Amino acid sequence: MPTRGTSVDVRTGSHGSQCACSSPRESHDGLRTRVAGLRLRDVSVQELMESHSVKNKPAARRSTQHSSPPGGLGKAFQGLAGDSSLYAAYSKEIDDRLAQLFGSSRDLMSPRDVFVRMRGAFPALVREHLAAAGWEKRLGHESSDTISHWNEYPPELHPLDFEWYFTPDCADYLADAVCGRGKTTLCLGVPTVAAAAIRKGRNVVVLDRNPLIVRRFPALLRSSQLWLLDIADCEQHLARADVVLFDAPWYLEDTYSWLAVAMRAAKAGGLIAFCLFPRLVRPTASAEREAILEAAESAGKVEVLEDAIAYETPIFESEALYGAGITGFGNWRRADLVLVQRTTAVPRRMSAVRPSRPSSTWLTYLLGRRVVKVRYSPARTAVRGGSVRPLPGSVDFVYPSVSARDPRRRSIDLWTSRNRVAQVGNLESVMGILQLLENGGCLGTAIRSVYRASSASGRREIEHAFRRLLG
Ligand SMILES: C[S@@+](CC[C@H](N)C(=O)[O-])C[C@H]1O[C@@H](n2cnc3c(N)ncnc32)[C@H](O)[C@@H]1O
Repeated sequence: MPTRGTSVDVRTGSHGSQCACSSPRESHDGLRTRVAGLRLRDVSVQELMESHSVKNKPAARRSTQHSSPPGGLGKAFQGLAGDSSLYAAYSKEIDDRLAQLFGSSRDLMSPRDVFVRMRGAFPALVREHLAAAGWEKRLGHESSDTISHWNEYPPELHPLDFEWYFTPDCADYLADAVCGRGKTTLCLGVPTVAAAAIRKGRNVVVLDRNPLIVRRFPALLRSSQLWLLDIADCEQHLARADVVLFDAPWYLEDTYSWLAVAMRAAKAGGLIAFCLFPRLVRPTASAEREAILEAAESAGKVEVLEDAIAYETPIFESEALYGAGITGFGNWRRADLVLVQRTTAVPRRMSAVRPSRPSSTWLTYLLGRRVVKVRYSPARTAVRGGSVRPLPGSVDFVYPSVSARDPRRRSIDLWTSRNRVAQVGNLESVMGILQLLENGGCLGTAIRSVYRASSASGRREIEHAFRRLLG
């Protein structure tokens, strides 16, 4: 039985680094499916939004990312956004942006070039708007830049850790343009930049809750400090830094509370730099951005570099997009880079804001390059019968979404780095199989040993399901 992962403090002693490691078996669901009504530790999101300029926009508290169910995205989005006028305004913004793009040039545009310019609107949704407005005939060939670099750093990235990594060029750029601005940079959730900066001989302190970053980037062991902790547990460990750089999960609560941590961690006169999600990422994104930028301005002089940040498309997102019938997207995601020159003391309303702790526990299994996560709850290890079954409506276990607001997400018990998801019947048996696979066993033997009492045909069915799920 896996242990619940209290953090253990491990001092490596090597190269003078410190490494506070949580169990690699355990990771947490930092998924903030809970914008509406959810409390930051001291300030509710509602208060937060109301304290900024989004008053009287109740729907602005409901955020959504994009799912792509069969039968059209529009309706599904409207349901997720929860407010038809907000959704209509969002739809119009997407149409206006497309009209602006295609109106300003008579040339054909590759799908990727369109997606890159759509301010974060999910390609499956953009494709729907393109078709509805008749712009599809202006699409050129798919560009050759549709290959991601995810192969370069196994194990694979996982959506539950929000692992959208920067392109190598972008990581390099940030290592120079941001980490070069001071003697020490505190890197919060930016392992690719930390690794690039270390390779350039810069001094960095690294904080990230995912221990797998060290396997992907062994250079991190040469950081001056390496804290493998949740950000909610880090502050007592951190000394003040000249520069603080962070890339939080793309939600209001996360970005806002990470900004509060960054303000407390940056020296007076220091620099805070962070990635800000673009305004069409969901219907509420513009209002959320305003709230975040207003908070940033309370700490100093703010500069926003639009679309300065480029991400690789991780394999889990490629799978979601292929599952939704989209190709040619390449490395389509962009974000703005926000620079805050800290001139004032930490504003009172920010000093009370703390990141919240994860609400669920996910156990992590490494099967070769694959990362498989299982939602762990001691109360339900053997509640239901059976092994794994697909989510209703999914084909071959593929989940065509990376959205934290997709209502189907709540019923996911097992999630792979190839964006295959399943509901789990007998959790203990499924964990037993994954453990045997992680130890190098083969699937047939693992199933025979865990499902000894089942019939041969029952075991064949279980094996077939696992093969598709782990494919
Ligand atoms: C959005 S990704 C950013 C990665 C960045 N773009 C890069 O290329 O280095 C978020 C990172 O923060 C980490 N992370 C997510 N939630 C966290 C939390 N609550 N505490 C600490 N780290 C967290 C993840 O493990 C991941 O490395």
